[in-house]
Amino acid sequence: MKFFIDTANIEEVRSANELGVLAGVTTNPSLVAKEGVSFHDRLKEITDEVSGSVSAEVIAEDAEGMIKEGKELAAIAPNITVKVPMTLEGLKAVKAFSDLNIKTNVTLIFNANQALLAARAGASYVSPFLGRLDDIGHDGMTLVATISEIFDLHDISTEIIAASIRNPLHVIDASLNGAHIATIPYKVLGQLVKHPLTDQGIEKFLSDWNKNK
Ligand code: E4P
Repeated sequence: MKFFIDTANIEEVRSANELGVLAGVTTNPSLVAKEGVSFHDRLKEITDEVSGSVSAEVIAEDAEGMIKEGKELAAIAPNITVKVPMTLEGLKAVKAFSDLNIKTNVTLIFNANQALLAARAGASYVSPFLGRLDDIGHDGMTLVATISEIFDLHDISTEIIAASIRNPLHVIDASLNGAHIATIPYKVLGQLVKHPLTDQGIEKFLSDWNKNK
């Protein structure tokens, strides 16, 4: 499983990229709004920093508008992936982008039929939102496992991005359940690195080393 970071904050992108594990970035309108910057300028900064897929979401609700916006976003850099919401209009736009060889990430996936439809329309990625399902008492991880089983069974190459990740356990489980990618908030990325025994071990090694000087 690969790691994407789920943020529109350039400092977070840079700092995650320095770790050498970053395969891509996802943004969404809420994350961009928090930054209070020009969307296109920020996407340019992110794509200058990261060579992997950078998802940028369209705001239009009709296929024609999505296609127009998506083409403008895709013109920013070759590694832009156009993020499209899972709607009937979204599916039409995904098909059009696929014909134009523009990569797409179909977002707001909450059941396996949505994922299968998105894949058949030509999506490069589908994003099941685990955390938001867990938030309402559903099992987000079972959805990832089901999508993975269906895609394997039917030899579908669309990649599954485990999205709306809330904690380190989500990351392990997404990996075990067949997600190709987890898109992770910066805070959770930091949590993945930490273990109290690692910290204690470093402290002990250093104090033993210094005693011997
Ligand atoms: C994914 O692409 C989305 O941006 C994101 O994971 C949504 O997460 P949230 O449910 O924490 O807003």
